[in-house]
Amino acid sequence: MQSLTAPAEWLSAQPREAMHGEPSILPLVLRNVSYAIRGKTLVDGLSIEFTQGRRTIILGPNGAGKSLTLRLCHGLIEPTAGKISWQGPGAPLPRLRHAMVFQRPVMLRRSALANLTHALAVQGHKRRERRERAWEALERFGLQGLADRPARVLSGGEQQRLAMARAWSLRPEMLFLDEPSAALDPGATGAIEEMIQAFHDEGLTIVMTTHNLGQARRLADDVIFLHHGRLVEHTPAEEFFTQPRSQAAAAFLKGELLW
Ligand SMILES: Nc1ncnc2c1ncn2[C@@H]1O[C@H](COP(=O)(O)OP(=O)(O)OP(=O)(O)O)[C@@H](O)[C@H]1O
Ligand SMILES: [Mg+2]
Repeated sequence: MQSLTAPAEWLSAQPREAMHGEPSILPLVLRNVSYAIRGKTLVDGLSIEFTQGRRTIILGPNGAGKSLTLRLCHGLIEPTAGKISWQGPGAPLPRLRHAMVFQRPVMLRRSALANLTHALAVQGHKRRERRERAWEALERFGLQGLADRPARVLSGGEQQRLAMARAWSLRPEMLFLDEPSAALDPGATGAIEEMIQAFHDEGLTIVMTTHNLGQARRLADDVIFLHHGRLVEHTPAEEFFTQPRSQAAAAFLKGELLW
């Protein structure tokens, strides 16, 4: 794969906003957000502010509400109480400026390249621009060799890299990643982490979930720890891993918190 990491000085010189030529839609602010189904509160009173350029990793045991929180932020589901708002000067959205990648990538029954051009068509881009952007994304992440292959026959790791490249091709300002390397071997996981690092280097704001604590340590600027749908901690990563404030987080880090 080509080198994915840009030098730090280049990064600070070129925030994502400048690349878009559009004002930022961030911060994303959740105020007292809850989500309940049939009287059961699954996400309970979250208040969070996501600021530009940070990598936030949401941790917590199975069923803590991590995936629901990402879905709420991305607008796939609506809060049953509270408010989610994009508060940057670029909001309200002129068009979709945030993207999401799921644990199991959703690929259409067509070539890898066509999966990218289709997503760009849905976003309203003209035919020529679709091809240019799709190739740019494939080349950027060393996927040119897969362009003509049916996306659904690609390996799990290849499909996930393709899903990440597809999200990147949409030029989002913010990216939600739900366990992007959960089912992948160490090599494919490393490739996904390199992509996440490259996204970060370009100034994308990232919110992701993972059960891989090594990965969380490698990638997180901030950690949000959820338990039973509630926010227990929102802390700089280093602090979270060295001195968690809550008993639940300390138990989780020791592998002693089951749900
Ligand atoms: N559509 C739904 N109907 C009923 N319950 C739901 C629904 N979606 C999620 N839940 C419940 O909400 C809780 C939180 O789910 P969520 O998928 O956000 O957990 P998670 O933290 O992502 O867990 P995991 O680590 O296993 O992915 C779980 O108990 C789940 O069973
Ligand atoms: Mg989940």
